[in-house]
Order: sequence, then C-alpha cells, then structure tokens
Amino acid sequence: MFTGVLVVNLRGKDKSRFVSNMFNRISGRYDLLNTIMTAGMHYSWRKKATKYLKKSETGMFLDVATGTGDFAFEILNQKIANKVVGLDFSVEMLNIGQIKSEKRNFDKKFVPVVADAHELPFSDNSFESITIGFGVRNFVDLSTALEELLRVLVPGGNLVILEIVKPEGKIMSRLFPLYFEKITPRIGSIFAGDREAYTYLPQSVSNFLTSTQLAVLMTKKGFKKPVVKKLAFGTVAIVVGQKNE
Ligand SMILES: C[S@@+](CC[C@H](N)C(=O)[O-])C[C@H]1O[C@@H](n2cnc3c(N)ncnc32)[C@H](O)[C@@H]1O
Repeated sequence: MFTGVLVVNLRGKDKSRFVSNMFNRISGRYDLLNTIMTAGMHYSWRKKATKYLKKSETGMFLDVATGTGDFAFEILNQKIANKVVGLDFSVEMLNIGQIKSEKRNFDKKFVPVVADAHELPFSDNSFESITIGFGVRNFVDLSTALEELLRVLVPGGNLVILEIVKPEGKIMSRLFPLYFEKITPRIGSIFAGDREAYTYLPQSVSNFLTSTQLAVLMTKKGFKKPVVKKLAFGTVAIVVGQKNE
C-alpha cells in the first residue's frame, strides 16, 4: 500500500522511475488537474514566463520536461519560435503533447524527444533559449541538470524556469503547505483516480527550494544574475538565468 513516506525517501534511479511512471499514469488527466488546481492560472503563468525569453536567431527553442507540451505551445503561440524541441522522459506525456500539437497545427513545429534532463542529447552551445515549466522540482539531481542545461545553452542564452516553490513569507510558508497537503490528494483522487500522484505533488514542493535558493543554486552552477519574479502569493516563481557571453 502507498505511504507518503516512501515517496519522500526515494532517491536516484528509484525516484526517476517513480516520477516517469507516475507521469505516464496520469498523462490523460494531467491538463485537467492543472486547470482545476490553479483555477486556470497555469496558462497565464507560462505566458508571463515567455516574456523573459530572448529572441532567437535560429528560431529554435528547447522546452525541457515539456510533458503534454503547454509551455512549447505557448512559445509557438507567441510566434517567437520556428521550432520547439519538447524533451521529456515520460513517453505517455509526450504522446499527448504530439496529439495536441496536431490539433493546433503545430505538428511540424513541435519536435518531441524522449530523454532525461540530466543527460541532454544535444551538443554544447545548441540553444539560445531553454524553458522548463514545473519540471525542476522533480529532478533527481538538480545541480547536474543545471550543468547540462548550461552546457547546451549558447553563451548569452537564457534559461527560464517556471516552478512551484516553497513560499518565503511567514504567513504563506505556514498556510500553503496546510492547504496543499490536505486538498491536493483529494482532488487527485476524485479527478485523476490517483491519490498517490497528487500526494507526491505537495511533498515535492516541501522538499524543494524557495525561489531565492533556486537563484543561488543557479548562480553557483555558473548562471549570471538570475532574475526572480514571484507569482501567486510567492507560491510560484519564474527564475531566469543567463549563460555568460
Ligand atoms: C509537472 S509536469 C510539467 C509539464 C509541462 N512542462 C507543463 O508546463 O505543464 C513535469 C514533467 O517533467 C518530466 N520530467 C521529470 N523529470 C524529468 C527528467 N529527469 N527528464 C525529463 N523529463 C522529466 C515528467 O515526465 C513530466 O512530464
């Protein structure tokens, strides 16, 4: 039987397997649950995050942990990209992304790639802009992944991270976990039939960083001047890091 403790204790390959299996399982309900849990706000957060993207000379963007593709489609909607490579290690999430791209006539512009963010299948200095929406919190080794992301960015290129973070203020840092841990598993159980996945979600946030801590880690890993923009009372953040020219 599932116990919350099990998920918290998972590390390395076990955590990777747990996370990819979980997203494969909930892929069909993922978009609906996002909309229910954020009251539809997740679309506007991605839109805000795209404002931090640099214009790309090649028109080629990389969206890591693309899942069902919503961040990639937002970039394509903004008409700032010719192609977005959508990378994810959950084949089922990518399959849904592919179907959505066909419905939106983006099938020639959305390039799904099955791979792990800790081992990107691209050469050094390949992309001017990289996005990651609600992905980094799930990474097994964020430091290694940040090194990989920096490697494939061109000098001067931007990494734009959108993530649920640990709130920093006194009130929200107490209220948010209470709400999130009580409500999210119930919503997951009712609308996705998967209490385990939506118990993992608040756990992954309480095990994660504040937006300031994320910016500090990015600086340590070699990104220049991360910019932090807090959203949703500090529970969500856009953190933008640049590779040195
Ligand atoms: C919460 S979903 C986010 C999907 C999408 N970016 C969005 O904005 O809705 C997280 C995604 O990250 C993927 N993911 C987690 N760890 C990964 C890793 N190490 N490599 C590649 N994908 C990963 C999962 O498979 C899942 O599809």
